[in-house]
Amino acid sequence: MDSLTIRRPDDWHLHLRDGEMLRLVAPASRHFGRAIVMPNLVPPVVTGDDARAYRDRVIAAGFAKPLMTLYLTEGTDPDDVVRAHADGVIHAVKLYPAGATTNSASGVRDMGRVRPVLAAMEAAGVPLCLHGEVTAAEVDIFDREAAFLDRVLTPLRAAHPGLKLTLEHVTTSDAVDWVRAHPGVGATITVQHLMANRNDMLAGGMRPHFYCLPILKRDTHQAVLRRAATSGEAQFFLGTDSAPHPTHAKEASCCAAGCFTAPHALPLLAHVFEAEGALDRMEAFASLNGPAHYGLPANDDTITLTKGEPLDFPERIEGHGQSVTLFDPGHPVHWHVTEPA
Ligand code: DOR
Ligand code: ZN
Repeated sequence: MDSLTIRRPDDWHLHLRDGEMLRLVAPASRHFGRAIVMPNLVPPVVTGDDARAYRDRVIAAGFAKPLMTLYLTEGTDPDDVVRAHADGVIHAVKLYPAGATTNSASGVRDMGRVRPVLAAMEAAGVPLCLHGEVTAAEVDIFDREAAFLDRVLTPLRAAHPGLKLTLEHVTTSDAVDWVRAHPGVGATITVQHLMANRNDMLAGGMRPHFYCLPILKRDTHQAVLRRAATSGEAQFFLGTDSAPHPTHAKEASCCAAGCFTAPHALPLLAHVFEAEGALDRMEAFASLNGPAHYGLPANDDTITLTKGEPLDFPERIEGHGQSVTLFDPGHPVHWHVTEPA
């Protein structure tokens, strides 16, 4: 098979940033229909009014169909969340454990403090997206996702069985098992976690453009993720977590977390699905399972991916005074998005 036509994919987890960076990166997601847009700006998107204003800036920057999220804080007003959702301003709320990742300082320290807002979301059908890592200093960074399942997610699920959950960017077999054991819970998987493992990041030199959070795990976890993504199972779908940082912030003595994959995410994904002999299931993962989880229709139009010469993508994109380096898997990728004109 050297050509694949699928319903237009959506990106169920995307960082677009703001200002000049937003203007640089928004066009890079043009092959996607909709995207769940993360709220971890500085300062974060915490109210319905913040989300409305940010949505307007995203659309003005060239991404037409953003699905906005609110950043959950211990001060979040339940009524504001429910109203913003009812008005169609937001599609989900994002939980960042405080300190878990980029711009998460305003996140949640004590889950007890957000019980009222979680109860209101459960009653009103507002989905919760989760950054699934604990931040306790004694927990090894490679174990933070598994610890989150036991310490936070299992009790949360028991307390709010009707709350719609998406466990974002799953990276371990533990998370895949947990999701399968909890029907109705969705899980996004990134392109970099399908393409790479921690050896790719660390063996023979440290590669900052492979560093993201949750951090890449060992190859056995990567294999489980690849099987889950290519299985067609409805609970798993694409969220690129494309997370641009200025090149100087990545190539630094303390490098920022995030892989910038938006420009070539779909060719990279096709590479993975072809290698797994599962191109016929890429549409489920990229275009069908996500909308079904969120109760939305799949996109009406299609895109075509074609296999040919090695994809010639730039090392970085530049403009608006910004430079962002692309995630490079380190081997040729032969798939191209050939949009219907
Ligand atoms: O690697 C990451 N980068 N993981 C996150 O959770 C946040 C993201 C960012 O905003 O840069
Ligand atoms: Zn993210």
